[in-house]
Amino acid sequence: MTTAKEPKEHGGDVRLSGISKTYGSFTAVHPLDLTVPQGSFFALLGASGCGKTTTLRMIAGLEEPSTGTVCLGEQDVTALPPYKRPVNTVFQSYALFPHLDIFENVAFGLRRRGIKSVKQQVGDMLDLVQLGEQARKKPHQLSGGQQQRVAVARALINHPKVLLLDEPLGALDLKLRRQMQLELKRIQTEVGITFVHVTHDQEEAMTMADTVAVMNGGRVEQQGAPADLYENPRTTFVANFLGTSNFIEAEVASVSGDDVFLKAGGGKLTLPKARCTAPATTGGTVLVGVRPEKISLTHADDAGAIPEGRNRITGRIADSSFIGVSTQYVVNSPVCAAFEVYAQNIERDARLVPGADVVLHWNPAHTFGLDADQDADAGVEKVEEDA
Ligand SMILES: Nc1ncnc2c1ncn2[C@@H]1O[C@H](COP(=O)(O)OP(=O)(O)O)[C@@H](O)[C@H]1O
Ligand SMILES: [Mg+2]
Repeated sequence: MTTAKEPKEHGGDVRLSGISKTYGSFTAVHPLDLTVPQGSFFALLGASGCGKTTTLRMIAGLEEPSTGTVCLGEQDVTALPPYKRPVNTVFQSYALFPHLDIFENVAFGLRRRGIKSVKQQVGDMLDLVQLGEQARKKPHQLSGGQQQRVAVARALINHPKVLLLDEPLGALDLKLRRQMQLELKRIQTEVGITFVHVTHDQEEAMTMADTVAVMNGGRVEQQGAPADLYENPRTTFVANFLGTSNFIEAEVASVSGDDVFLKAGGGKLTLPKARCTAPATTGGTVLVGVRPEKISLTHADDAGAIPEGRNRITGRIADSSFIGVSTQYVVNSPVCAAFEVYAQNIERDARLVPGADVVLHWNPAHTFGLDADQDADAGVEKVEEDA
């Protein structure tokens, strides 16, 4: 792979400064500042219609920003047409040339530039996407995942500085999508160029990206490494869009040392001050969040055995679903109508069935605190699922 051997240039970041896009009176993307470090795998994550494609198209030059600039490294490319930008795009519909075989599809960009000896480069590229054996097949003879890899090879052979991918795996079924996520990640690591990947699938973004920017209504709501976003969401939208969160409205009883002490439904909770992004003033309200997998369930009869110092809530199991690796419980409690708890199936307590009285408890360190003025259900995934 020739690209991998080239020395890494510095300052090849993609920098968006104040870019926005309005269509008439509708703002698809609000003024946005975003830096994508050179060589990173960056994901733009958000629900349909939040402005991901528009943002990507502004980077590609396919859409003119209403305000702001796009820089690639030191170069301001805002006024450049798409073909003059060192950028290539892979779309969900890979649109290969049906009459050309795989080799010629990949060679296309080189031939168009008048390059005669393409064999080595195309061969390397097909090896990169593990399609060396398929070179003489026509696109329709390949699976969807293979065709998408051809599309990636066809884009990468132009040695773009940045590869833009707009829901490239959206047309694939779930299992193939999972395989291709790992495959694309491997390819990116191997070639080392910047990938900006658009997806509405939170698991996909977290699996693949070094950095995820969560978009909501034309704005980036939060960005960070997947684990950081997951563990330290700053808004209910991010907390709900990335996985599942439980929220309890709690009153601040006191703030002391590194901790915020809270009251909720007659019980007491502790929240590390460092994990509270809301102003914590005595008497004020904080939305306390905790992820379902951080919580342990203990039958009420055994409550005495729960170690001191854990946050605890009492409740009654409303529902339980056994899904193999874990059992997912819904627990009704005075402080949260439907608490979600995921318990790994190690030793299952046969008493933990709907109707059972339980204590939910967790390490206070796993608690996060958000501004209570937000909608606790923001970003909760609607039932709609893509095919
Ligand atoms: N050419 C256009 N004219 C008017 N509205 C548009 C146009 N392109 C996109 N939009 C609107 O802008 C919003 C963002 O679209 P898009 O960037 O495609 O979202 P996403 O890719 O996140 O699904 C949507 O509400 C969409 O309907
Ligand atoms: Mg889109």
